Amino acid sequence: MDYRLFEGFACIPRLSLSSGCSFRCSFCTVPTQLVPATEERLVADVDALAGLSYGLIFIDDKSFGQAQNWQVLAKVRDIVCNRTDEFYGFIVQTPPSIAARPGFLEACYELGVRYVEFGVETVDDALLKWLRKPFSIGHLRQACSIARDLGMYIIPNLIIGIPGDDYSGSIMWLEDNVDIVPVVNVNWLSVHHGNDRGSLDLPDHGIADRDQNTSNKTWLSPSEEARGHLAIAQCYGITDSYWRGRSIDLQPLAMARS
Ligand SMILES: C[S@@+](CC[C@H](N)C(=O)[O-])C[C@H]1O[C@@H](n2cnc3c(N)ncnc32)[C@H](O)[C@@H]1O
Ligand code: SF4
Repeated sequence: MDYRLFEGFACIPRLSLSSGCSFRCSFCTVPTQLVPATEERLVADVDALAGLSYGLIFIDDKSFGQAQNWQVLAKVRDIVCNRTDEFYGFIVQTPPSIAARPGFLEACYELGVRYVEFGVETVDDALLKWLRKPFSIGHLRQACSIARDLGMYIIPNLIIGIPGDDYSGSIMWLEDNVDIVPVVNVNWLSVHHGNDRGSLDLPDHGIADRDQNTSNKTWLSPSEEARGHLAIAQCYGITDSYWRGRSIDLQPLAMARS
């Protein structure tokens, strides 16, 4: 990586310890082959961040913890903490079933992870099964409880426009956990080409069906589309009414470790 054009730029840079994901969610096009980065390349990528201005790093591994080298994050933490006193930690993404493994989030906290993004998609076990997500609501509850005890924050990815979803499970879960959920990512369900995990058997009648930022889907009636927009407004309303006027007070990692 070469970020010299962005010298001094304030950002949340991305770093990959591995690429790919071996889970088989039926909507996902991430390559199925899991390939760990070499330590040499990783150190070179961390060196390339030196001219940027950042307090957090986003770890771009698709399901953090799946590749065997995840604990090499300690090396990244130490390099960055030796470079700056103003580093507040990592954001990782992973499914709740990995996060709920005994001791996993605790180890992540030690490595400097402060935010965990979960591909929650929907809080409904039957729909999660249909999507072939590798977790159930039980894992999600368990992972949230561990994260809360550790003082970690959760960023859920929600998929809107799943046929048959009324969003009640997702909204209730968000209301119960908003104290650890400062922000929500939303995407409209889409069918993508080049999906080597199979497909959802949904119609693909053009660009909108393949676009995660568009609500106009062949498989949604106008009232279902409107219900999806209402669900997004409700989710944003829940986080906004809790978090407006509050802030997250993270300690710099160097200070937390001394
Ligand atoms: C690359 S995945 C990583 C998440 C992580 N592996 C997990 O499952 O917890 C990022 C997110 O993109 C969204 N996404 C991926 N494919 C999508 C699709 N076809 N339609 C809508 N959203 C999609 C999902 O919300 C997913 O959680
Ligand atoms: S959504 Fe996440 S867990 Fe599922 S296959 Fe894609 S990257 Fe893997």
